[in-house]
Amino acid sequence: MTLLWGNIILLAHSALGAEFYRRILLANPAVEGLALKIQMTVNGQSREADVEPRLLLVHFLRENLGLTGTKIGCDTSQCGSCVVRMNGATVKSCTCLAAQADGAEITTIEGLSAGGELHAVQEAFWNKHGLQCGYCTAGMIMTAVELLERNPNPTPEEVRQGLEGNICRCTGYHNIVQAVLAAAEANSATSSG
Ligand code: FES
Ligand code: FES
Repeated sequence: MTLLWGNIILLAHSALGAEFYRRILLANPAVEGLALKIQMTVNGQSREADVEPRLLLVHFLRENLGLTGTKIGCDTSQCGSCVVRMNGATVKSCTCLAAQADGAEITTIEGLSAGGELHAVQEAFWNKHGLQCGYCTAGMIMTAVELLERNPNPTPEEVRQGLEGNICRCTGYHNIVQAVLAAAEANSATSSG
């Protein structure tokens, strides 16, 4: 069993992605019925649960915690609808097992606003009409927030590059880019004022 778990952890951190290993776990009778106790802080709240080793983080957030702002838009790890932040870094929560987030700080779209106020990036998406159906929006916003922390004054090209892991099926990219630029402007006005 130790060897099995060692292999699973090693493989789950490889570039091949958690979905592949979830399928291995799914097909492996040795792990059927096993539960792992995990604890993580989600949007500032400590959450604990017994989960199956194969459970993806996105399913844990949506189904166990009811945080359905994080979306599932593909099964190929391409669309970015599922982006959340783990210890400050953006991750596609469909490519991460819930067990890999044990002990982590997770922020989802529900955790961005504070005191009833929208985050500057949420406000900018609203003002610039940076969404159509809205399916990609949570992932776009989570990615944009991290992008602006790394690069507070990006060029339009840098915004497009920064969002390249996020797909908008409505192809509303123009307004999304405008929204991120507007958020950058609003942030710099706040910090200089
Ligand atoms: S659902 Fe995660 S990348 Fe598409
Ligand atoms: S607004 Fe519809 S997928 Fe982006």
